[in-house]
Amino acid sequence: MSPTLSRHSSGLAIETAGLVKTFGETRAVDGVDLAVPAGTVYGVLGPNGAGKTTTVKMLATLLRPDGGEAHVFGHDVVREADEVRARVSLTGQYASVDEDLTGLENLVLLGRLLGHHKKAARVRAGQLLEAFGLTDAAAKQVKHYSGGMRRRIDIAASILNTPDLLFLDEPTTGLDPRSRNQVWDIVRAVVAQGTTVLLTTQYLDEADQLASRIAVIDRGRVIAEGSKGELKASVGAGSVHLRLRDPGQRPEAERVLRLALDTDVQPEPDPVALTARLSGAGDSAAEQASRALAELARTGITVDNFSLGQPSLDEVFLALTGHDTHETPDAKEEAAA
Ligand SMILES: Nc1ncnc2c1ncn2[C@@H]1O[C@H](COP(=O)(O)OP(=O)(O)O)[C@@H](O)[C@H]1O
Ligand SMILES: [Mg+2]
Repeated sequence: MSPTLSRHSSGLAIETAGLVKTFGETRAVDGVDLAVPAGTVYGVLGPNGAGKTTTVKMLATLLRPDGGEAHVFGHDVVREADEVRARVSLTGQYASVDEDLTGLENLVLLGRLLGHHKKAARVRAGQLLEAFGLTDAAAKQVKHYSGGMRRRIDIAASILNTPDLLFLDEPTTGLDPRSRNQVWDIVRAVVAQGTTVLLTTQYLDEADQLASRIAVIDRGRVIAEGSKGELKASVGAGSVHLRLRDPGQRPEAERVLRLALDTDVQPEPDPVALTARLSGAGDSAAEQASRALAELARTGITVDNFSLGQPSLDEVFLALTGHDTHETPDAKEEAAA
């Protein structure tokens, strides 16, 4: 922990008040208040164009706010930008790795740039490649890496020196499920070493897996903030989808589910399919689903197939705002440009 942090009594890694950034007519960030406890993963959840990257860039001192204030470990991001820069690291759309160098060469080079001696730089690079499952790819040029490997080497590069605060801007967007899981494990390992992580994401399940608290942002504003339990209590825990063996049992299955889950049950166009919404309060989605399945079995209803669906970002937005998200994932490239 940095001396500044212990001197800074609030225990907050990030504190912003009324943060604003405009681009011409666009209020990209429109009065954001954040309080990020040190030593945790804090999730900023929002669709494309919500203002996530712009917020991160201001906190990382890459963009100057047009209004409001932001402090990182007690340091003002404008007046004390050097102190802030000494404590933070950023991974995302601006990775510093060189495509033509190998994974090992990149990490050693960046280590040297950070002032490590050659031997120490090689040792640290080797440790990180090992920890990130990239030892076999150490001698391969980064341009030949898969998307998941690329994301991992980006994160490795950003934690060569253990930063007090790491910004991960949509670290898993576009990755396959296996690579996402690898990145998630890395994030957990990073935070276990004492680094605070600010993670932006478009996926509720990612924020749910990693973050202790979540801010939902929409059009430059925080529209909900709380622990993930609080967020789920307001938006629900998702739904369980069932397929029955016998369509004749569906009315009875509906009745049993309604009683077991105390919730809405919708028959679907497929005559053997049913969907039940799960409550966000109390038992976990898995516990509620097991209870429902046990109850169906007890009643002699045969279930051929079931799946548990997390609420999508769209459902979260609908629950919180009464409207859909405004952008589609296709807008990603423009927003990133
Ligand atoms: N450099 C820029 N110039 C003009 N508009 C920008 C710039 N950066 C972002 N924007 C706009 O600001 C809004 C927020 O963008 P951004 O912070 O990238 O959102 P997110 O990261 O949540 O997708 C979007 O409407 C985007 O088009
Ligand atoms: Mg972005």
